[in-house]
Amino acid sequence: MVDPEIAAAIRGELERQRQNLILIASENYASRAVLEAQGCVMTNKYAEGYPGKRYYRGTEYVDVAEELARERCKALFRAEHVNVQPHSGTQANMAAYFAVLNPGDTVMGMNLAHGGHLSHGSPINFSGRLYKIIPYSVSRGTEMIDYGDMADIARKNNPKMIVVGASAYPRIIDFKAVREIADEVGAMVMADIAHIAGLIAAGAHPSPIPYCEIVTTTTHKTLRGPRGAIIMCEQELAQAIDRSVFPGTQGGPFMHSIAAKAVAFKEAMTQEFKDYQFQVVKNAKILAKRLKENDFNIVSGGTDTHLLLVNLLKEGITGKDADETLERAGITLNKNMVPFDPTTPFVTSGIRIGTPAVTNRGMKEQEMIQIADLITSVLRDIKNGKLISDVNVRVQELCNQFPIYPDLI
Ligand SMILES: Cc1ncc(COP(=O)(O)O)c(C=O)c1O
Repeated sequence: MVDPEIAAAIRGELERQRQNLILIASENYASRAVLEAQGCVMTNKYAEGYPGKRYYRGTEYVDVAEELARERCKALFRAEHVNVQPHSGTQANMAAYFAVLNPGDTVMGMNLAHGGHLSHGSPINFSGRLYKIIPYSVSRGTEMIDYGDMADIARKNNPKMIVVGASAYPRIIDFKAVREIADEVGAMVMADIAHIAGLIAAGAHPSPIPYCEIVTTTTHKTLRGPRGAIIMCEQELAQAIDRSVFPGTQGGPFMHSIAAKAVAFKEAMTQEFKDYQFQVVKNAKILAKRLKENDFNIVSGGTDTHLLLVNLLKEGITGKDADETLERAGITLNKNMVPFDPTTPFVTSGIRIGTPAVTNRGMKEQEMIQIADLITSVLRDIKNGKLISDVNVRVQELCNQFPIYPDLI
């Protein structure tokens, strides 16, 4: 009523999320409880500082929310300390670096073209501008992280910190191996588990907590919470991390988001959440298997997580053409660089497919096979408009069988 234009945009977005197969690996559907907390009156409150030690009065209720978020998060991940205030994954990483590094320090991060994130040292990101970044890569043969190679790079460059974690890496990360490499060269380890946090909370991926000084994560991907991030660390670094978030890199915390993070952490402690995360992985494996049977080249041969990468070089299709065409069929995913990609990040030779959102709708193995076959038929004939509309009809049917947010209007 107040703003029909924005109301229409929100309604449009709701319908888009309902009527498309969302296969973007970093997206999910937050619960109604999380949405409600995020839209609550705590957005009005200024609360610079931390529970019990604020710069403003009137913080007794937001203190409750932040304390609950912190305690639940610590219990969920078995972390010694957590800061729940970072507004985003990039800001969490910035605060983490500022807490323990000085400009010019040497940092090892995963090659962006091999799955790493911009904030792990891209030259066009603050991380690449402030620190001396030495990238490590996946091996050409296995397309998996080569820990021997990582050790050699570490020995040669003596990094102050090794950052591990990725945006597009489908395999289990061996945090213990990274710890051993770091110990040999006297480096710290920071794990950015933004993509796999939900899997880790549920026990579907090994935890980095015992092996890393610092662990950062977004809360809105597999973790299924509100948009935002957290930083976990060992007790020794608690003060440095907290100071680095506020006053170091942020002002007033988003208390509505922190309340919603608390809700998400509570949800993540349930059996339903554990079952969901294991199903996410099962679904990604089935999807990868079926696409492989359909003769696609799956990066690293498969997946252990919630995502897989398809290398389309053999097909002669760019990632850009693939994601544009699939979107017309109602299948939303993103183009992605593949290891040793000869193209650019705007074109790419691959696509990334993630199962968190479709699994959240209740889809299982049977539907994954259908989705793989729908993707296959579009990619085998990307200029065929009739086929694209036929696939879109099948996508609508599938979406209608697995409704999401049925009571939202
Ligand atoms: C591994 C990783 N770290 C950090 C981020 C950044 O999160 P945000 O977009 O909230 O800044 C992402 C987002 O895609 C990510 O994949």
